[in-house]
Amino acid sequence: MAILEILEFPDPRLRTRAEPVAEVDAKTRTLIDDLFETMYAAPGIGLAATQVNVHQRLLVMDISDDQSDPQVYINPEVTVIDEQLGEYDEGCLSVPGYYETVSRPQRVAVTALDRDGNTFTRELDGLAAICLQHEIDHLDGKLFVDYLTPLKRQRIRKKLEKEHRRRA
Ligand code: NI
Repeated sequence: MAILEILEFPDPRLRTRAEPVAEVDAKTRTLIDDLFETMYAAPGIGLAATQVNVHQRLLVMDISDDQSDPQVYINPEVTVIDEQLGEYDEGCLSVPGYYETVSRPQRVAVTALDRDGNTFTRELDGLAAICLQHEIDHLDGKLFVDYLTPLKRQRIRKKLEKEHRRRA
């Protein structure tokens, strides 16, 4: 397993729309293991392949406190069950240090492939539903800062660019 480098906003590669996974094979499973290791090390509760510069529709998440609920979604398709929006202070490993309130549907159903390539459908609510939608956004080249006002987004962008220059 390996800890992969996480791309950070405003890296243009985060804007790539990921392609469906054609076949779930050994390579896919290595990527899944690396995504989990990278996510747990960060630490974070969700990570999309896009964030490690792999543009395939695959994401991992674990919202438990003790790494006991690893979940893999390959080629996920979401349906909103309840249109009612809930607010949550979201953060993102690609936008480190920033948390902002975002509104999203609170109950969704998702159909995806698991790490063996089998199709499953699951209903998610609360934080799990929020996290899944946030990660699927990554696969579409979207970030949570896109839901903020341009002014707020610009402020975060400038601060992160400054931080990147400092690190370079
Ligand atoms: Ni994120």
